[in-house]
Amino acid sequence: MSARIIDGKALAQRVREDVRERAVALKAKGIVPGLTVVLVGENPASQVYVRNKAAACEQAGMRSRVIGLGADTPEEELLDLIGTLNDDPQVHGILVQLPLPGHIDTGLVIETISAAKDVDGFHISNAGLLMTGRPLFRPCTPYGIMKMLESEDIPLRGAEAVIVGASNIVGKPMAMLLLAAGATVTLCNSKTQDLGAQTRRADVLVVATGRPGIVNGSMIKPGSVVIDVGINRLPEGGLVGDVDFKSAHAVAGAITPVPGGVGPMTIAMLLVNTIEAAERGAAS
Ligand code: GUN
Repeated sequence: MSARIIDGKALAQRVREDVRERAVALKAKGIVPGLTVVLVGENPASQVYVRNKAAACEQAGMRSRVIGLGADTPEEELLDLIGTLNDDPQVHGILVQLPLPGHIDTGLVIETISAAKDVDGFHISNAGLLMTGRPLFRPCTPYGIMKMLESEDIPLRGAEAVIVGASNIVGKPMAMLLLAAGATVTLCNSKTQDLGAQTRRADVLVVATGRPGIVNGSMIKPGSVVIDVGINRLPEGGLVGDVDFKSAHAVAGAITPVPGGVGPMTIAMLLVNTIEAAERGAAS
């Protein structure tokens, strides 16, 4: 058997088209949805991500602004900037690209962003709302994965879902979303003993560790759905996920590729969160 490939790029395109139509409707009411991205320092990977986010915003008919600050920007200056953006009615979404330089308290920065503009869904209020089943903004990567599972008609009620990686950005919110959809959720971390014994139980397996090859075909239940969140750059060039694609593809029922799987969905859902923020602002 070989797995069906879940085409994240095609689905992301459909999501982006829907956002574009919603942006047109808002503009007809005189509101131009706007995202401001703040980048501190010159991390090359972050620069690429930020450029892609801004371009996607523009393509969807939204206003995007990138504010670049030097790597030695004092924490106070960044917090002041966020305060100004919080008060600016033309800014519907604020995203501070991570990681931040070591002298800046990342938690404090995230908590300073208005929860109503936190399109990353990282603010502690948004984490709490998600946990209690009343989400305002869902973090983009897990939100995109839920969209993919939905578009593929993957049954989640009563399914065994196993997540490898327990980060605040992916693993933990993913667990909350799958739990809310009725799955039985196992959240594995770097201390998990016999990872394969856990992953082999999964009807839906989500892998988000940043460690290429941490899951291979021998660790996958035949016919299951495998979602690979990893984006790892090879020394010789090219990208691979966290899942060994070749061996996993031979066992799984459906699998996301890298690139072209989860990655495009993350950006698409950022646009969804931004348009939702603007629509809420328009309604209030
Ligand atoms: N760095 C890597 N992924 C992300 C993300 O989703 N949001 C932000 N703000 N920074 C990131």
